[in-house]
Amino acid sequence: MRILSGIQPSGALHIGNYFGAIRQYIRLQEENDGFYFIANYHALTSLHDRERLRQYTLDVALDFLALGLDPKRATLFVQSDVPEVCELTWLLSCITPMGLLERCHAYKDKVQQGISADHGLFAYPVLMAADILIYQSDLVPVGQDQKQHIEVTRDIAVKFNLEFGETFKVPEPFILDNTAIVPGVDGRKMSKSYGNTIEIFEDEKSMRKKIMSIVTDSTPVEDPKDPDTCNVFALYQLFAPEDKMAEMRAAYLKGGIGYGTVKKELAGYATSYFAPAREKRLALEKDLDYVKDVLREGGKRARGEALKTIARAVELTGIYKS
Ligand code: ADP
Ligand code: TRP
Repeated sequence: MRILSGIQPSGALHIGNYFGAIRQYIRLQEENDGFYFIANYHALTSLHDRERLRQYTLDVALDFLALGLDPKRATLFVQSDVPEVCELTWLLSCITPMGLLERCHAYKDKVQQGISADHGLFAYPVLMAADILIYQSDLVPVGQDQKQHIEVTRDIAVKFNLEFGETFKVPEPFILDNTAIVPGVDGRKMSKSYGNTIEIFEDEKSMRKKIMSIVTDSTPVEDPKDPDTCNVFALYQLFAPEDKMAEMRAAYLKGGIGYGTVKKELAGYATSYFAPAREKRLALEKDLDYVKDVLREGGKRARGEALKTIARAVELTGIYKS
């Protein structure tokens, strides 16, 4: 199966990105044809700083490789190395109803907050549909927040196929229940835009500090607590081994354990969890030429696939090319 997903290079990646998305990419690369890309055109909807955009683009590549993405198995590339994706965005835009985009949350939330959105943000889901459809993707692993965008992609694919003739595969989302929404230190969804993240490659001391600052309720130590509504437990279960998790769940229900104790244990697991990846990242940082080669090769392969789809879409729509 063709697996495809992208992450925006709009800031340091966090553990929500890891458990919600990247871990699935790495697992799925084993038995599938994985296409993973750095969505820099998407990041331009929110980041207008050339130095940072370039830096974050390479940072995401380093993060992916350090976390186990294997360029021998999967194709890693930068979105803008396949400019045909913008061409397809236009073809898709011409069959996308305004209403479909007006309902999309990123745009709707901004308008509701009284902020005026630009066209890039409004058209963002169409660019995402082009990303997915141009590679004839079967499955798109993402976190819960992207589900709506995959539904929009499916609607667009079906409409194009009906109107112009069979061109695109209709993709399925792949969302894991227990990591669909990883909470941030303030209890809201962990997100770069909320400033509530724990970064994957954060140094150990600051990771510990952030974990100790996770917001909890004020249930006394001796009282029973509900593991299923606790942010600390939600993170604990991502990192702790199965048996420890069961023990901790029982301790919550029984009472007698304080949040401080749970946080300390969580900090121990979380800091050691990413230690091997941290080492690998340090080594890769010294070999940026290798990282750039991987991106260049990945871009070539991805573009080869994209050209096949765009040729058909261009032909079926009647767009003239000399
Ligand atoms: P952010 O909200 O921090 O800007 P992105 O929108 O760049 O994150 O998300 C990249 C990927 O990580 C997407 O597939 C998204 O669904 C997933 N993701 C982001 N935050 C979380 C989270 N808190 N829990 C689970 N998955 C997440
Ligand atoms: N919009 C996605 C996000 O913010 C990133 C993205 C862009 C993406 N294109 C994609 C994800 C295609 C999956 C498939 O997380």
